[in-house]
Amino acid sequence: MIDNIKVHLKEVAAFSAITAEEVEQFRIGYLGKKGHITKLFAEFRNVPNEQKKEYGQLLNQLKAQALAKVNALQIELRGSQSQSIIEDISRPGQPIPLGARHPISIVRERVIDVFSSIGFGLSSGPEVEDDWHNFTALNLPEHHPARDMQDTFFVQTDPDIMLRTHTSSVQVRHMESNEPPIRILSAGRVFRNEAISARSHCVFHQVEGLYIDKDVSFADLKQTLLYFTKGIFGTSEIRLRPSYFPFTEPSAEVDIYWGLENEVDYRITKGTGWLEIMGCGMVDPNVLTNCGINADVYSGFAFGMGLERMAMLLYQIEDIRMFYDNDVRFLKQFIPMS
Ligand code: PHE
Repeated sequence: MIDNIKVHLKEVAAFSAITAEEVEQFRIGYLGKKGHITKLFAEFRNVPNEQKKEYGQLLNQLKAQALAKVNALQIELRGSQSQSIIEDISRPGQPIPLGARHPISIVRERVIDVFSSIGFGLSSGPEVEDDWHNFTALNLPEHHPARDMQDTFFVQTDPDIMLRTHTSSVQVRHMESNEPPIRILSAGRVFRNEAISARSHCVFHQVEGLYIDKDVSFADLKQTLLYFTKGIFGTSEIRLRPSYFPFTEPSAEVDIYWGLENEVDYRITKGTGWLEIMGCGMVDPNVLTNCGINADVYSGFAFGMGLERMAMLLYQIEDIRMFYDNDVRFLKQFIPMS
């Protein structure tokens, strides 16, 4: 009887398998309800007393080895299975869902593209500004009534520190530390203390431009605007309406002819066919002087636009709040403009 167990021990030690099926057969053969080991345990009472100890020890050994063998073979087979997956380089990859660009980013890149093709570089500055860069240097001294045009968020109770209300503050910083000729765009987030509605938000994005050199004229401004509206809206039909900004003189509002072909055109142009897209003007000599530029030698123009407004027009988006809701169903719809 003891010899019988020894034969089994040798068999277990020598066993190897290639398929999971073979391992399972082996497991059932040894460890199953009707397997060798169950049978050998049943024989225990027939074993002569003087052999019981050795028989018991060997039988326990056999059981432990059979279990260990099954485990080891199962792990080995699993390992070689996953290895064969890794090795199959012709297997198609897992699909990775493509993300989409945010419509504000798409429009910003497009605007920057158009202006960079005529030599405008990028400049950036802080979102938390001081009074000088956001207002005073821009010809808006303390108590100037036009400060109310841009309701301001102040930081804590310090009236000198605020969230910038426009990216013109970046232009001031750039003029202070650079010599003309200057040709820059400043793009970024701006903040105004306005009630949130479908048409306006307290956080939005602007791109502003500045060009300073000798003999820059209003005609240069107009040609630049034409180049821009052609590039973005595909139209050169623009109109400059006299307007007011404290930092430019003269100032104008730029309208493009949008058309009056359908109901939507009527609604967004209020029945006129014209759409206001940006503000602009010749930089006020006071601003140049404030920023350390000789206003007798240099002149320049500036313009500024809201990117949300652009994106709403270009993609026909009715509610400005959609840009900030982060609803994936909205965000995944936008493809970059060519
Ligand atoms: N800074 C102005 C605004 O935020 C826009 C502007 C820029 C107008 C430059 C004229 C010239 O409303």
